[in-house]
Amino acid sequence: MSGNPSDKVEIALDVNGRVHHARVEPRKTLVDVIRDDCGQTGTHIGCEHGVCGACTVLLDGEPVRSCLMFAVQAQGCKIRTVEGLQSGNELHPMQQAFMDHHALQCGFCTPGFLMLAVGVLEKRPDISDEEMLDVLSSNLCRCTGYQNIIKAVKAAAHTMKAADD
Ligand code: FES
Ligand code: FES
Repeated sequence: MSGNPSDKVEIALDVNGRVHHARVEPRKTLVDVIRDDCGQTGTHIGCEHGVCGACTVLLDGEPVRSCLMFAVQAQGCKIRTVEGLQSGNELHPMQQAFMDHHALQCGFCTPGFLMLAVGVLEKRPDISDEEMLDVLSSNLCRCTGYQNIIKAVKAAAHTMKAADD
């Protein structure tokens, strides 16, 4: 017989290159553990059912909605959150482009958009504008009207590609 589902288990999660140990219920979502147990509160919780994308993080480089996974499932994976984008005092090109192009207002959706766009561009630097639009349409923003987010992602795509060439 298996134990009580609310029995806590020990887990270790690699978040932005640092291993965090926590004792959590197996049903606790990845986003809740990232925020409550790993102290990385840059990842936001919006809808909690996979619609808004505010909770997007990278799992072994793939954008995932961290409200739709249990933290126990992310053991052994490399998790990147918005806190891991900056390098020293230097913003990631995507963060800089969001600032330069006024791609945020309240900022609630921003960590999710940043991680989504970075995850996709790291894998597919030559993605077409149309495909990128399709990708970005999976996350919700209630403030900006999206135009400046699209401008920022395009600008960052150029900067990221130039840095790789
Ligand atoms: S909080 Fe995860 S998709 Fe909305
Ligand atoms: S900037 Fe407010 S929800 Fe996107």
